[in-house]
Formats: sequence, C-alpha cells, structure tokens
Amino acid sequence: MNEFTFDLPTSWRHGSGMASRTGEIIKEFGCRKTLLLTDRFLLEQKIIGPVLKSLDSAGIEYVVCGEIDEEPTVRFFDYLADTLDLKSFDSILAVGGGSVLDVAKGLAVVASFGGNIRDYNGFDKVPAVPDQKIIAVPTTSGTGSEVSDGVVLIDEEKNTKFLVISKKICPAAAITDPELTRSVPYRVAVCSGIDALVHATESFLSRDASIITETFALKAVELLTKNFKQAVADSQNIHARESMQVGATMAMIAGMNSHLGLCHALAMPLCAHYHMPHGQACGMVLPAVLQYNAEAENEKVVRLLKTMGLYDDEIGEDATQDRAYEKLNAFLAEISIVSKLGSFGYRDEDLSGIAEATLESAQTPTNPRKPSKQDIADIILKVT
Ligand SMILES: [Fe+2]
Repeated sequence: MNEFTFDLPTSWRHGSGMASRTGEIIKEFGCRKTLLLTDRFLLEQKIIGPVLKSLDSAGIEYVVCGEIDEEPTVRFFDYLADTLDLKSFDSILAVGGGSVLDVAKGLAVVASFGGNIRDYNGFDKVPAVPDQKIIAVPTTSGTGSEVSDGVVLIDEEKNTKFLVISKKICPAAAITDPELTRSVPYRVAVCSGIDALVHATESFLSRDASIITETFALKAVELLTKNFKQAVADSQNIHARESMQVGATMAMIAGMNSHLGLCHALAMPLCAHYHMPHGQACGMVLPAVLQYNAEAENEKVVRLLKTMGLYDDEIGEDATQDRAYEKLNAFLAEISIVSKLGSFGYRDEDLSGIAEATLESAQTPTNPRKPSKQDIADIILKVT
C-alpha cells in the first residue's frame, strides 16, 4: 500500500433541517459575533431564514453582507476586505454557493494576517489557521468548498483564475442541509453536479490517490451518478438532492487529499478563454480524458465506468468500454452539457495556448498519465 496523509480539518454536520442548528454550532466553537456572508438571491428569497432564526435563538450577534456575486473578482474581494470591519468578528458564516464560501475563507485570511489577498496567492502561503472560525453552509452541491482548502476568485488583470490553496483555511465546520438546495435552478445544479462528479473521478485516478481517498471517491461517484438526473430535473426530489449533496462533499474530501487531474487542468484555460461555467468545462472533456487515462490505468477506469452504471459485461472488453464512453456522452448530452467548443467560439489559433496552459497547470502532475503538449491538443481536438 502507498504511504498517505489524509486530512479532514472540518467538522461535517449533515441532515435535513441542520441549517436551523447553525447558531448552536457556532456557539459550540466558542464564537459569539459572526459576519454572515451570502448572496442577494438567498437573502431576498428568505432561504436563509432558518439560519437567521438559529443565530437569534443562540444569542449570536451578526452582521449580514449579502453582496457576493456569482463569481467574485479580486477587485471585488478587496472592496469587501476594505469596507467590512473584519477584525470585530470571531467567525465568518458563509451561506451560499462555492463563491460565497471561498470569499469567507479569503476574508478570514486577510483579517487574521493582514495585507492583501494577492500576498497569499498560490500554495501554502497562509501562515496559520485564521483567528476567525469559518462556518460553511453550502446551498449548491458541487464545489465542495465547505470542506476544501481552496479559494478561487477571478483575476481580472490577468484574465485567469486566482487561487489560494492551504489546508489552514479549511472551514471549521461544514453544515450541509438538503433543504437549502431546493432553490438551485437546473443549469446550476447540472454544472455543479458535474464538477463534483469530475472531482470524484479525478481523485480516484490521481497519482496521489490512497485507499482512503479511493473509498470516498468511488462512493461519491455512485451517489452522484445514481441520483443525477432525478436531482437536476426535480428540485423537490429531496432524496436525490441529498444524495448529490453528500456525494459532492465526499468527492472534495477525496479530491483535496489526492489532488485532481487533466479535466481540471484543462478547465482553467477553457473557462478563461470561453467564459463557460467550470462544471461545463470539466464535463465536456471528461470522456476524452477518461479514454486517454485508460491507457495507463485501464482497470481503474473500468471500475469507474462500472460504478457509473455505464458498463455492459456481455460483450468483449474493448467493445464494452467504447460503448461505455458512448453512454457517458449520451448522459452528458441529456443533461445539456455542451459537447463542442465551437459553440463557445473556439478558434484554431487558440489550441496551442490552451494546451500550453494545461501542461503547466498544477493539476497536471497528478494525472495518472503524463501528457505531452500534443496529447493535450489531441484531447482538445476531440471536443472541437
Ligand atoms: Fe472543480
């Protein structure tokens, strides 16, 4: 068995109605005054009502900031850091999608250690666990930010994503309540769900995978694929939405501990060039990347395809695997993941730059097969 390190710094509390215990959970962590970050929609629709009520009944003092955009930029982050009296809070409660949760982690870092968020850009630049406890209440099922070690913002100066990665910034608590996911619209549910599925598949195949991460990843693949269509089609199917939610958090627990691979490496330049949702980018390259990785890890890819319910045993192995990719493509088409880059304005002259950026990505070295620039270009050409 390979050596491994497995970290889960976050206390994960899950259950229907769990959001109404947020106040007592914050209190349990010794906190009394929290900055509540959320987005306008959740605030206006009163979806965070149970959270607010729980803060009141637990006697937690709070200030609400409901200004977080869908994908915040570094400039917007700086504006928040400058205008909020961050040091006056002992905790930051984030209720929303991955962006809201990521902003909370970033604000805790600058509140505790000073400077600008750009000072912490990259890997392991955060000196210690921030003073402000981060309590994460996700309302979408996908990014896994409620347990992850990452902050992702848009770097508008460089037209790329801005990352802060450190296990020191994992939330103190993740509160997952399936009731909060009822309001997630179809397209958001699809893109975030596919993102989670790709976290699970890439973690399972990663060079840094361990027996622990493989166990989490494979169960996540099962929960996500078995419930995907029902969960996105019917926001009131709480059983399916709960399975997706638990699967998404499990996928990131695996992903954070094993790192990801080529789909995520490709997604970064694809999103920067064509401004598509992250889950759309990950999903559209998944079949081609799995096929590419099967050359190095055929047995594991087959296990994934079987767990996804895409494998027929009755015909020869190659034919079966080809059929599984066809079924995967059909599944992605059915849930409206666009399969061709042409729909986003792809130009032949973009190919080299995207392949180069993918090759240099921090996520490429843990891909099970070491790609050349030409290998990456070939994968891109399959989706043009
Ligand atoms: Fe992702």
